[in-house]
Amino acid sequence: MIKFLGKELENPIIASSCIATESVENVLRLAKNGVQGAILKSCADYQRGAVSGKRQFAVDKDGFLYASSPFEKEILTLEECLSMLSELREKTDILLIPSFTADSLEPSAWIPSCQKLAEHSADAVQLDFFYMGNLIGTDNFSVKMITLLKELAKNITVPIMPKLNINLPKDYIMPLLAKASIEYVSLLDSVRSPYLEEKNGSYFLSERLDTQTTSCFGHWQLPLTLSYTYTAAKYGLKACAGGGVTNAEDVQKLLAAGAVTVQSATFLTKNPGRVQELCQDFVCQQILSLTCSFVTWYHYQWKQTF
Ligand SMILES: Cc1cc2nc3c(=O)[nH]c(=O)nc-3n(C[C@H](O)[C@H](O)[C@H](O)COP(=O)(O)O)c2cc1C
Repeated sequence: MIKFLGKELENPIIASSCIATESVENVLRLAKNGVQGAILKSCADYQRGAVSGKRQFAVDKDGFLYASSPFEKEILTLEECLSMLSELREKTDILLIPSFTADSLEPSAWIPSCQKLAEHSADAVQLDFFYMGNLIGTDNFSVKMITLLKELAKNITVPIMPKLNINLPKDYIMPLLAKASIEYVSLLDSVRSPYLEEKNGSYFLSERLDTQTTSCFGHWQLPLTLSYTYTAAKYGLKACAGGGVTNAEDVQKLLAAGAVTVQSATFLTKNPGRVQELCQDFVCQQILSLTCSFVTWYHYQWKQTF
């Protein structure tokens, strides 16, 4: 049995913050199909203006998915997320983890909103740093990050779970999280990459997908995810690890690398009905382990009798 955020889970699968978790209907469908928790689509404390542009997707010949979207189309407002949380809490008992992003590392930009999310019976709050660009170059980054994490932990009643991306290098960020006494970590966010379109055997930068805001998703990410997971485990962090997960074998690899739970975005967005496929090996192992325990117990009883 897996224990995560104080709850016993039947399997390790958590739905990542993404399209699959941006509406009540989507989350409930995943819950019905067996996910044990949902990290809700990231939200920010802002007013949405007139939405310009649209979400765009492309799939290349290797099956990698590229997505691009304006912030206001992509990110939930705080109010939208709070209302989703309230409705979901009434309708499901899976782990509900809202995700929040801000525009600076100042604690005052995070605390009031994260408090509201916690008060709406969140099980934890994910901290999303992806939209803040390359933070590592910020003056006094480590001091600011540790201060933010400590202040959040002091002022919020549920665990906070920073979400990592490759702009936060694993060997730099994990010791920092450990220093701030962080217990849970979420990984790994997508990677920004321009989309190269192929025409007549040569490649060119797509004009359709913005080169600055396009993210790339795919199985290629798994080795990166594994290396972040090993490092998280080395520092005693409980990782909800994902990025590039496409089957049950990937899930097993991440658990073996030290992840406590495994998250998936692209697979579950494309295949909301196929949650059980991701936990097949896990269920077999649980049955095997229960059988072994029973055989050991039975053998012991038998020995006691004679
Ligand atoms: C369309 C889309 C939107 C996403 N939006 C968010 C988001 O709002 N917040 C977040 O933390 N991650 C977001 N992600 C990243 C995923 O949570 C996940 O980290 C990433 O896609 C890698 O996992 P995957 O290989 O299972 O897709 C998004 C991913 C996709 C595909």
